[in-house]
Amino acid sequence: MPERVPVFKPHIHVDTIKNLMDALDVGWLGMGATTKEFEERIAEYLGLEDRHVVAVNTGTSALHAALVVAGVGPGDEVITPSFNYVADHQAILMAGAHVVMCDIRDDNLGIDCEKAEVLIGAKTKALMPLHFMGIPCDQAGVYRLAQAHGLRIVEDCCHAFGTSIDGRKLGSYGDIACFSFDPVKVITSVDGGCVVAGGEAELKKLQHFRLLGVDKDTTERYKNRRAWDYDVVAPGCRYHLNNILASIGVSQIKRVDEFIASRQKVCRSYSEAFSPIEDLRVPQTDFAEVSPFIYSLRVLNGKREALIEHLRKRSIDVGIHFIPVHKHLHFAGCRRGDMTVTESVVREVLTLPLHSNMKQEFIDRVIEGVVSFFS
Ligand SMILES: Cc1ncc(COP(=O)(O)O)c(C=O)c1O
Repeated sequence: MPERVPVFKPHIHVDTIKNLMDALDVGWLGMGATTKEFEERIAEYLGLEDRHVVAVNTGTSALHAALVVAGVGPGDEVITPSFNYVADHQAILMAGAHVVMCDIRDDNLGIDCEKAEVLIGAKTKALMPLHFMGIPCDQAGVYRLAQAHGLRIVEDCCHAFGTSIDGRKLGSYGDIACFSFDPVKVITSVDGGCVVAGGEAELKKLQHFRLLGVDKDTTERYKNRRAWDYDVVAPGCRYHLNNILASIGVSQIKRVDEFIASRQKVCRSYSEAFSPIEDLRVPQTDFAEVSPFIYSLRVLNGKREALIEHLRKRSIDVGIHFIPVHKHLHFAGCRRGDMTVTESVVREVLTLPLHSNMKQEFIDRVIEGVVSFFS
């Protein structure tokens, strides 16, 4: 049997291990100076001018913190696609609000703004669009909708660290953006995430919420010290990112351009090989501004399961993003709109292996595996 090709393969090297050892040597394991350094590097990479980064321990906590700071609370409704990871829906529940699920567009698999508009009501407080795979959703449409109805936007950019629209990185403008650095993302801090928001007031609120509502502690911890005369000024969670995980994030962000370029190259090879195949629909992008987290194509005419089996026999793993959230027991009762596109897309989507600096042998085997199934 040939070596298994995994769907995800984090790119961990000696530089990551060295950063980690150095951080352990410092001896301040909690949130500290390295957390601050990671935040600064994220801000620099995203090209932030008047916006701020608050690092947290997961993308899910980033979404939760963002919703709370956006003023979402009990009784409010938040609209998000059902075709999304359940982190968004759980974050909405954690904020005390109601989930309202919306359909997606057939071209970019992001939120369908026309269908979202139908769902907006007196209780709607925010929209939570996702940039699926790293490919931008109809962001302009989302912002138009929010402006017309006075809504906040929490952009789920967890798949899209490094994606730009017209030369501007996601998160560098707009309302609130959330990123994930979990084990399989384009850059990882093992687990981690961040919120990017504008204005000093929201920065303070995010910093308080991340650290159990404790004031002063952020300033002191950034110097690898504790504040002993603190006050608790707001509700909060224990969501901060520690120095040890941040040190891994720092090592990874230094190489983010290399990681993204290598992933774009793989995606382009896949799209070139698969676009002539009638039963496949490749992502509708040239990847020029896309930081691809996954490569998910659509297998038409009911052939997906047979293709999965064909690849399995060749030791090639695949994934399925996502099971729509309205199909899950806990969310089945949530208000939702028409799901025509979601319902058909979920029978077609298939995620192929994609790694940073992926081995050529793996790329060739994935291409051969898919092409041989259809020939
Ligand atoms: C679309 C989306 N949003 C949010 C998250 C949550 O990120 P994390 O795993 O860092 O909590 C994920 C994780 O895969 C995701 O795919």
